Amino acid sequence: MRAWMLPAGSDGFDKLYVETLPDPTPGPGEVLIQVHACSINYRDFAVAAGKYFGGALKAPAVPLSDGAGQVVAVGEGVTQFKEGDRVQGSFFMNWVDGPPRMSAALGDGFAPGMLAELVVLPESGVVPMAESLDYAEAACLPCAGVTAWNALYEGPRALVPGNRVLVLGSGGVSMLALQLARAGGCEVIATSSSHQKLERIRDLGAAHTVNYKTIPDWGRFVGQELGGVDKVVEVGGAGTAEQSMAALRTQGEVALIGVLSPEGGPNPRGLMMTAGSMRGIFVGSAAMARRLNAAVDANGIKPLIGARFGFEQARDAYAHAWGPESFAKTVIELA
Ligand SMILES: NC(=O)c1ccc[n+]([C@@H]2O[C@H](COP(=O)([O-])OP(=O)(O)OC[C@H]3O[C@@H](n4cnc5c(N)ncnc54)[C@H](OP(=O)(O)O)[C@@H]3O)[C@@H](O)[C@H]2O)c1
Repeated sequence: MRAWMLPAGSDGFDKLYVETLPDPTPGPGEVLIQVHACSINYRDFAVAAGKYFGGALKAPAVPLSDGAGQVVAVGEGVTQFKEGDRVQGSFFMNWVDGPPRMSAALGDGFAPGMLAELVVLPESGVVPMAESLDYAEAACLPCAGVTAWNALYEGPRALVPGNRVLVLGSGGVSMLALQLARAGGCEVIATSSSHQKLERIRDLGAAHTVNYKTIPDWGRFVGQELGGVDKVVEVGGAGTAEQSMAALRTQGEVALIGVLSPEGGPNPRGLMMTAGSMRGIFVGSAAMARRLNAAVDANGIKPLIGARFGFEQARDAYAHAWGPESFAKTVIELA
């Protein structure tokens, strides 16, 4: 089989190379998947740059956490899957349900990566695809989709119809959050640095849009001029968290997700004024992925794919996802 790989000590996605490896076989409790599509997440740039949680890769590794495909064989003792099933990977292979269990994550150099023609995962790290999606659409969900789902519908302040949500920027997590929140009967306010992207976001059903470049105090603007929100999908981090707190109305929640804007030192005082809270999100469990997929099927949600590339163009796909034209999810399709 062919796989894209990053070398030990990789410092950027320009180091990606294709390798031919022996076809893997599933051991006891394992599932062999023929991968048909993958998607790129912001964390995949950090892995390639040697800046993810484990630091630089210690050995060559197959990248990407997000992929979907078809089961081609199962090992002894596997009960939930059989040949022919359409499945996706689960970001944390061993976090099945219940409280967080953040072990090795797919594509981080410690667990298998999905950017390969074949991959073996433990049964605990496999989730049935949403029935209504094709492989490319399903490949958008394991990281970005589950994160958005966890932020919106898990935890003590899960959204209810009529709530208001603020999503930051037009990236994968934010656009899936917009689609999920709209399906749940919520009103969405969205920000972006680009007027052109804001137009597309309005077409997706955002009630209000704010350009965070031309309105630098967008948080206060949302909180005071637009009436505030019950939830913020906070993908910026230190540089945006204070404004996200300012956007809350009473008893809202900032779902703390990202690091796109790492410089800054937010003053948490804003939470006092609204009896608000902040909840850390680290993707989610396989059970959350199943609940998300059920909601996707029930509501006819189609994850938005901004650009598609073939297996041979994986480096171009990374470059696109990293660049200014990136919108929602970037997908790599395999034969
Ligand atoms: N904690 C978790 O479990 C978890 C899970 C998934 C992702 N994340 C994190 O969440 C963040 C988003 O991930 P992603 O995969 O969705 O990223 P992505 O698809 O690469 O999104 C990039 C987009 O984010 C927007 N952006 C960049 N800087 C911004 C800023 N200062 N304020 C507002 N928007 C900004 C830009 O949108 P415009 O071009 O429209 O301005 C950019 O196009 C990353 O930091 C990632 O590491 C965390």
